[in-house]
Amino acid sequence: GVSVEAADCATLMRLARPHVLRERGFKAVRPDTTDSRRRVVLLNSELQELTQLPSALRRVIDDVGGELHRGYHIDIGYEHHSVHEVLQELLPAGIEVPSGFESVGHLVHLNLRPEQLPHREIIGQVLLDKLGPKVRTVVNKAHNIESTFRNLPLELIAGEQDYEVEVQHGAAKLRFDYSKVYWNSRLHTEHERLASSFGPGELVWDLFAGVGPFAVLAAQRGATVLANDLNPAAASAIPLNARQNGVAARVHAYNLDAEEFVRRALSSCSGGSSDQSLSAARLPTDADLGSDQAILARHSCALGEEQSISAAAAAAEAQPPSHIIMNLPASSIRFVSALRQLSVMPIKPVAHCYSFSNLAAADERLAEATERLCSALQRLPAELVVREVRSVAPSKVMLLYTFRL
Ligand SMILES: C[S@@+](CC[C@H](N)C(=O)[O-])C[C@H]1O[C@@H](n2cnc3c(N)ncnc32)[C@H](O)[C@@H]1O
Repeated sequence: GVSVEAADCATLMRLARPHVLRERGFKAVRPDTTDSRRRVVLLNSELQELTQLPSALRRVIDDVGGELHRGYHIDIGYEHHSVHEVLQELLPAGIEVPSGFESVGHLVHLNLRPEQLPHREIIGQVLLDKLGPKVRTVVNKAHNIESTFRNLPLELIAGEQDYEVEVQHGAAKLRFDYSKVYWNSRLHTEHERLASSFGPGELVWDLFAGVGPFAVLAAQRGATVLANDLNPAAASAIPLNARQNGVAARVHAYNLDAEEFVRRALSSCSGGSSDQSLSAARLPTDADLGSDQAILARHSCALGEEQSISAAAAAAEAQPPSHIIMNLPASSIRFVSALRQLSVMPIKPVAHCYSFSNLAAADERLAEATERLCSALQRLPAELVVREVRSVAPSKVMLLYTFRL
């Protein structure tokens, strides 16, 4: 390093900026232990003689009366470099360092480009080294095939093959098997925003509930939710997540096709009862009997509590909903027609239906939503509001249609 009077330290730092040590966790300015009025500015290369430095820098050092100082020796290794720095060093020239990844509990999820794929093992290992022990599993999205359950095809590229994750989601902790269900951390704000608009006394039907993010957050706000999903792995996570978050008495889960759920729920809230009833399809509070989590849940749930949850569920099933959530943006609209009968209820429920659009202008989006809903409902949607949720591709947005049935 270079030792200067303390008063000249800032000048040297400014003039010699490109040569000053810049490593995270290392201070570039240190005390000069041989003279308390002086400071040592560490440079980014090992220095034996000042003559090793470029002449322009030597002049700067001369101008501020700087002297060579050999008292500091710093070893900078793998552990001091960021993921980006290490991968920049390790990947062949021309291969871009992956720019982002999604963290889901202990798991990191990458979406590598074809040219990065041959290097996936090294990329995964660096992420594990740098982000561990919090991160134990690194996966890559294997291909682009869209499945009904909207879960992503994963390839393990480093670490443990353990896809059972736990995420903190607002005030809720949710657990699920990331390889089997749909999960998108980027919907967090939307989950919280919509759930916080519900309150005590309200009954919500969530037709495409996934592992229960809307349902658990809404129940935490005091609402009761009938949460349905066609994917058995998602539906069976709902009662466990409800229990884990202390809202088992207000979240009831079903594993039906959304149309079948609506058919049974309509019959149930209109006083019907049969083998095909909604209650017959209700999942037990410890739905996934095989999992450790379920065994724990079963032990912590006394028989009396089970009975009172069951009574609360039956009461909720007998009521018409105040809100209906439909988050299957590619085809939610197709299910709106199944809700038509709800418009005869004395208090008409509000539907919250997510959809995609390629249109940019607000008036065009409103016209598109009106047309789509009009053909599903066979009348004009009442009190329709169209709101942008997020951009999902360069010219594709996720929208929320809110309207009264
Ligand atoms: C986009 S995800 C939304 C999940 C959850 N609401 C969330 O925000 O994370 C859509 C969900 O709909 C479920 N699904 C797909 N088709 C369905 C159907 N016909 N009936 C019921 N659920 C369905 C999928 O399994 C998936 O969990």
